[in-house]
Amino acid sequence: MATESKHQHLLTLDSINPNIQNMEHPIRGPLLTRIKELEKELKNDVKKPFKEIIKSLVADCHAMGQPPLTFIRQVMSVVIYPQLLDDMKFPDDAKQRAKTILDACNGGSIGSYTDTKGIAIIRKHVAEFIEKRDGIPCNWEDIILCTGASDGIRKVLRLFVKETNGKKAGLMFPVPQYPIFSILSHELGFHQIKYYLDEFQNWRINVEELQRSIDEAKKVCNPKVLVIINPGNPTGQILTRKNIEEIIQFAYKENLYILADEVYQHNIYSKNSKFYSFKKVMTEMGEPYSNMELASFMSCSKGYTSECGFRSGFSEIINMCPEVKTMFHKANSAMSCPPTTGQACMEVLVHPPEVGEPSYDLFIKEKEDILNSLKVQAKLIVETLNSFEGISCNELEGSMHLFPQIKFPPKVLEAAKKQNQSPDKLYASEALENAGICLVPGEALGQVSGTYHFRITLMPVDQMKIMLERLEAFHKEFMDRYR
Ligand SMILES: Cc1ncc(COP(=O)(O)O)c(C=O)c1O
Repeated sequence: MATESKHQHLLTLDSINPNIQNMEHPIRGPLLTRIKELEKELKNDVKKPFKEIIKSLVADCHAMGQPPLTFIRQVMSVVIYPQLLDDMKFPDDAKQRAKTILDACNGGSIGSYTDTKGIAIIRKHVAEFIEKRDGIPCNWEDIILCTGASDGIRKVLRLFVKETNGKKAGLMFPVPQYPIFSILSHELGFHQIKYYLDEFQNWRINVEELQRSIDEAKKVCNPKVLVIINPGNPTGQILTRKNIEEIIQFAYKENLYILADEVYQHNIYSKNSKFYSFKKVMTEMGEPYSNMELASFMSCSKGYTSECGFRSGFSEIINMCPEVKTMFHKANSAMSCPPTTGQACMEVLVHPPEVGEPSYDLFIKEKEDILNSLKVQAKLIVETLNSFEGISCNELEGSMHLFPQIKFPPKVLEAAKKQNQSPDKLYASEALENAGICLVPGEALGQVSGTYHFRITLMPVDQMKIMLERLEAFHKEFMDRYR
């Protein structure tokens, strides 16, 4: 006789943390699921109008074929397998870097736990990197290493989660958004304060818009943190120094903590733009601004290294009250430490080969090849998309993403309405199904009502040319069909 299995789960949709239920990743959610299904169908020889999917969904350059930098992988290989210290094939500077890391590891092994804040010598090298970048002092004790910038952002944000007078803490972040901020708002329980970037001024941050959004939000929450992404994802802008100063003055006036997400600081393509860190501008503005609290973030996942999988980042946290700092490190210590391999990767990013060292020439060549290729991609994608009917995009000054606007014929709007979805979602979904191209619909990242966009991410030039050809054919067919 068959016995009926009546296992009752303890964890059910009704019983789990509602904040987890509310979290939705607009990119890694249903869109990624559909891409995986399509890939499976292609593998099983199901007939499609394309042979492979061009995965331009997230900036994961190695996944798109970008080779890793030789020096990074040499150092990583030696720290993981120290017997290679005796291997003549590895250059002396790579071995030296590896030895510095190993000597700083407990028991001389990359397999041991490190200090929660990360290995001290690497934090010191991060501080030197920042000093060189900004031309102003950096205290290595203000640096923490983290499991990717995302982890650092989460660690800092959770300090702010507190209801006061029955109101949640408010997190201000830019729209169109990089999704981690809305996801963390759900998870940690922030009220989301969305401010819109100014598309007509190359996605600049408009102080009047910051004011509008905070004034509205103050009725229902206590605004605490102002997030800035510079260079921007998904909008590709680089903030001018003047704009940064205005933002700092606004944050000071409104008592906001600045969280500067600066992971794309090496991805600068426009001749007319320069990256200024918030720390540099704040410090150079002098008092009272130089005393403001700030956390800034950098990552090995972007720039020219694109070592996303090592999960490696750092945060510089300045002017934090010492007692809070103690609490912060106490809370972080519960999770032991960031991965030691990621820390080793950061060591190479902030302490690359120097002039005269054996790996210098190759390192510089590989680095410049990647950055030059990204520059070519940035120009090519903007020029090509701007030539498509109905599409307009701003210059891609930096980062790895572009957010073009599309003006659709009225029939697209009608068709989308009938299908109960937004026109840009319809476009993105047809681009995936009919042309194997992955676009993130603007609706998923936020856009001014009545405007339609998509996010597209840079990819190696050869693939980009194929993608743009396919997109052009798809776009023409789509626009004609709905004309
Ligand atoms: C603006 C921005 N911040 C943070 C991150 C996360 O970086 P990490 O891989 O270091 O967590 C990304 C990743 O794409 C990003 O675009």
